[in-house]
Amino acid sequence: MILLDGKALFQKIKLDLSNEVQRLLDENKKAPHLAAILVGDDPASDTYVNAKMKACREIGFESSVFRYPNDVSQNTLLDKIFEINDDDNIDGLIVQLPLPHHIDENDITHSISHKKDVDGFHPVNIGRMVLGLPTFLPATPFGIVSLLDEYNIETSGKKCLVLGRSHIVGTPISILLSRNTRLGNATVTLAHSRTKNLDKLTMEADIIIVAIGSPNFLKSSMIKKNTIIIDVGIHRIESTQTKSGYKLVGDVDFNDVQNYVSHITPVPGGVGPMTIASLLKNTLYSAKKVIYSST
Ligand code: GUN
Repeated sequence: MILLDGKALFQKIKLDLSNEVQRLLDENKKAPHLAAILVGDDPASDTYVNAKMKACREIGFESSVFRYPNDVSQNTLLDKIFEINDDDNIDGLIVQLPLPHHIDENDITHSISHKKDVDGFHPVNIGRMVLGLPTFLPATPFGIVSLLDEYNIETSGKKCLVLGRSHIVGTPISILLSRNTRLGNATVTLAHSRTKNLDKLTMEADIIIVAIGSPNFLKSSMIKKNTIIIDVGIHRIESTQTKSGYKLVGDVDFNDVQNYVSHITPVPGGVGPMTIASLLKNTLYSAKKVIYSST
């Protein structure tokens, strides 16, 4: 079994990016700047945003976090987003999800300028992805294909099963893997809560991407030998085996499947760091106007 080490690849990407920042500074250009909006006091969201900002500092990006209480109004958030859209100093903007229920996530994410949408959630960027045009790829799917590429995992002609159809992972990764590109050309099945005979699909798949938000869901009895598994889930569950009294697990029962798979992402240290790596890459592309010109 080969571990797909997202943490190690993240370190490599950070080194490349910090060299890029140095090149920009040497040309008297400014360092890329990522801004994040964080609403409420959800500990997981707080951890993710802190990790993103820490990575920015490590590679020499500028970063800003704008924090709001749980009862902030949608208009207050929209005003901040419009202000950042017009701020030439800021290259990328993310709003950490989920948002409180009184806020419409679509209204918020769609009001971010598509030119600063480094999460790749804006309909313009999703549409460009579907058409194979240059775009900010959604950070988690971009991280997954980068990881498959790093380990020379062939996707062409492979049966790839995606579990979960979320806007931020399942739907875009199913599109990316089925496109006619070097890291695509898979035959993709997108399974979800209404899918029948899931065991038959998991048993036939060469590559399974699990993004359903259910701890330890995928078991060895559901897969064939030598499957490649990408685990997008991350859950904090109680454990008597650790000092802290909890441990992090994914959507895949890692201990149960590890002897049956050819490759698998660990949790933590697999997809999570790759999401941050992709966000940083998109922020650099934005600063360098690689996707959209300044006009
Ligand atoms: N919440 C869970 N994943 C993500 C992500 O990739 N971006 C943002 N903004 N929020 C998230």
